[in-house]
Amino acid sequence: MIILAHESSCDETSAAVIEYDGEKFNIRSNIVASQIETHALYGGVVPEIASRAHIEAISQITYEALETAGVSLSDIDLVAVTANPGLIGALLVGVNFSKALAVANKIPLVAVDHIKGHIAAAYLTEDKPKPPFIALTASGGHTSIYLVEDYNDIKEIGSTRDDAIGESFDKIGRLLGIPYPAGKGFDALAKEGFIKATGDEVRYYSLYKKSAAYKDAAMALPSPALNDGTLDFSFSGLKTAAINLLHRFEQRGEELDHALFAAKYTFEVTEAVAKKIKAALDLYPDADLAISGGVAANSHLRARLSEVAKEKKRNIFIPPISLCGDNAAMIGAAGYFEYLDGNFADGSLNASAEDSLRKI
Ligand code: KG4
Ligand code: ZN
Repeated sequence: MIILAHESSCDETSAAVIEYDGEKFNIRSNIVASQIETHALYGGVVPEIASRAHIEAISQITYEALETAGVSLSDIDLVAVTANPGLIGALLVGVNFSKALAVANKIPLVAVDHIKGHIAAAYLTEDKPKPPFIALTASGGHTSIYLVEDYNDIKEIGSTRDDAIGESFDKIGRLLGIPYPAGKGFDALAKEGFIKATGDEVRYYSLYKKSAAYKDAAMALPSPALNDGTLDFSFSGLKTAAINLLHRFEQRGEELDHALFAAKYTFEVTEAVAKKIKAALDLYPDADLAISGGVAANSHLRARLSEVAKEKKRNIFIPPISLCGDNAAMIGAAGYFEYLDGNFADGSLNASAEDSLRKI
C-alpha cells in the first residue's frame, strides 16, 4: 500500500510517500519545505504569510516527493492530509490540494488530525509502540498527554491550561536573544549551563539539583506541573516569573548568566513533564511511552523521560529528530489507520482549527 501525504497546518509544507508492507512502514520520501527563515523576521508565525508560502511550495514538493520515492500518481493507493487542528488558512492549502488530487485521480482520501499524526511518528521507526501506550505530544502549539488505547481510540488525559511548552521555550528564548524558533538554541544553552553548574560533562543533569545554581534564590522559578492531582500543566506562571526575573536583574544592573538561567528554566520544565508522565504511567500499568512533537527533540527531555521509562520498567519510543517536527510522513502513517477503519473523506472535506481528540 502506497500513501501520498500532505501536511500544511503551520509553517512547514510537507509531502511524503510512505509504504506499508504489511508489517512496517517504509518512508520512500519525506520532503519538508520550512518557512522558518521568513517567520523568524517577525519572531513568530504570521498566518497570512504561511498560507501564501504553502500555496507557492505545495505543487513543487509533491513532485519532489513522488520523484524521490520513484513513483507516479497511478501508483498511489491512498491520499492523506492534515485537516485539523492548525492555522485555518494554512490547513486549507493542503486540504484543497489533496482533495483535488484525490478526486481527479480517483484515489481514496483520508483526513488526519495533526496530533494523531505526531503520535503516529512513532510508528515509522523500526521498533514501534503497540497500544495501549501513553503518548506525550510536545510542540509549539500543543502540550498533551494521551492514552492511546487503540490506533484510533485516543483520549487526552492531561494538557496545558494555557501556553504550550514549545511556545514557552520560544518566548523566553527570544528574551535571551535566541532566534526563532528558540527551542534548539535553548537546548544547547541549557546544556552549557548544566555543565557550568556541575562541572561534569556527562552526568550534568542528574547532578544539577545539588548545584549552587539550582539552589540560588535569585533564580527561583515555579514548576509548570499543576499540583492538583491532574495530569495538567500551566506554563503561563512560569513565563511571568521568568520575565519578572529577567526584569529584576536588568533593573538592578546585574548581569544574568544566560546559560545558568536556561538550565534552571529547562530543569523546571523537564521535571514537570517527568512528574506528570510518571503519574500517567502509574495510572496505566500496562502502557509503554512514546514521545513526539518538535519539543521531543529536546535532548534533556529525551534523556530524562528515558530514565523515567526505565524506572517504571516500560519501553520508550522516541522518533528521530527528523520525524519530531511537522512532516507529512507521520500524517501518512496516521492516515493508514483511518483507512483501516474506513474513515474516508470526500469532496466535501473542509479544514478545521479544532482538536478532534477527546479529553477525559
Ligand atoms: O512540532 P513542531 O515542529 O511544530 C508545531 O506543531 O508546533 O514544533 C515546533 C516547536 C518550536 O516551539 C521549537 O522551538 C520547538 O518545537 N523545538 C524545541 C527543540 N527543537 C524544536 N524545543 C526544545 N528543545 C529542542 N531541541
Ligand atoms: Zn506539529
